[in-house]
Amino acid sequence: MGATVRWVRKRAPNASLRLMSQMKWALMILAAAAVVGCTKKDTPTPAAEEAAAVEEEKQAVAAVELIEPLPESVDVNMDKVLLGRSLFHDTALSGDGTVACVTCHMLDHGGAEPRKTSTGIRGQVGPINSPTVLNAGFNFVQFWDGRAKDLQEQAAGPVENPIEMGAKWDEVVERLRKNAEYVATFAKLYKDGITKDSVTDAIAEYEKSLITPSRFDQFLRGDETAITDAEKSGYATFKEVGCAACHIGVGAGGNMFQKMGLVNDYFADRGTPVTEADLGRFNVTKKAADKYFFKVPTLRNVELTSPYLHDGSRATLEETVQVMGKYQLGKDLTDAQVNGIVTFLKSLTGELPTHANP
Ligand code: HEC
Ligand code: HEC
Repeated sequence: MGATVRWVRKRAPNASLRLMSQMKWALMILAAAAVVGCTKKDTPTPAAEEAAAVEEEKQAVAAVELIEPLPESVDVNMDKVLLGRSLFHDTALSGDGTVACVTCHMLDHGGAEPRKTSTGIRGQVGPINSPTVLNAGFNFVQFWDGRAKDLQEQAAGPVENPIEMGAKWDEVVERLRKNAEYVATFAKLYKDGITKDSVTDAIAEYEKSLITPSRFDQFLRGDETAITDAEKSGYATFKEVGCAACHIGVGAGGNMFQKMGLVNDYFADRGTPVTEADLGRFNVTKKAADKYFFKVPTLRNVELTSPYLHDGSRATLEETVQVMGKYQLGKDLTDAQVNGIVTFLKSLTGELPTHANP
């Protein structure tokens, strides 16, 4: 059993707890809005006083922790996790037996892929960059455009996606039923044995267990020595300039949809035509107001997941942070700010549980 994962029976999600956590987000977002300068004082004060007040507010907000520590363990059924691990790595889930989940979600590449956009069966190139599966259980919805409500619903998608794995669930279930080891393991864990539901449930259980606590979590829990002064200062900059208005919570992302190009037009400047995938959340809701909205991605392990953004257009973290400053905040960040933030982001690189790899 992995060191960081307890084997505990699944609990039903608790609605009132969820509501409380949503209220907490609302408060955090208000706090973050104060950083970005969305709150204005209505009584004018002399310049010096004003500056002092701004400085005080900045410090107060810098002291608020908008990122929450990852739990040290999650409740999972370890037998299902290990079964899910086999399935995640198994090319039997693809139409021509060449592609597995791990092909595009490489654990040694931060749970993402080193390509601009995904390549599926028969070398077909997909429209969008693959996000990480690590800590994905904390996302409020799955996919860039949020079209799946949870990990299990998500896992059903790639198998039948013609570009990704290009299979049919009936075929996949048939194929897995010919494997005696799977038959025996599923029979022990699921009353209906091998079905689309049990396969996706086991994969989701495995993904839920892929949490990657880092030094930064120790810092958030009060160990001041867990990160360096340079990382602390980079985190302060991250909060001051307003990154934490969107990259918030346990994942430093994964809690809301936001427009790519909130302040400046990212797509007009990108130099390549707008694609269907660029429309983001609009593809799900068909509401004009949702065009270019994406789930804010987690920043955990972002050091490892190049290239960046939904279009995979940026190779380095420095460039990506610069893009964020310009298009999401309307700020030309200095090199010192960018480097500080990147230094901080690297402290979010965590450790995979020992059971993650087969
Ligand atoms: C051919 C490459 C490819 C394969 C194979 C693949 N994925 Fe993905 N995965 C992607 C891409 C690309 C996305 C983003 C698609 C989108 O948002 O429209 C994605 C999204 C996801 C997400 C959502 C993460 C988030 O932050 O929203 C999860 C979870 C995931 N995949 C798990 C899986 C599982 C489980 C399998 C195997 C059953 C799998 N993937 C197979 C490329 C792939
Ligand atoms: C208004 C909300 C918002 C703000 C503010 C914001 N981001 Fe983002 N961030 C996003 C969204 C949305 C994406 C996904 C955009 C895309 O893929 O096209 C993103 C993507 C990223 C990525 C790429 C992650 C990946 O896996 O590809 C990084 C890194 C990042 N942001 C860092 C930052 C930093 C650092 C700041 C502050 C300078 C910042 N962000 C400010 C919303 C925001």
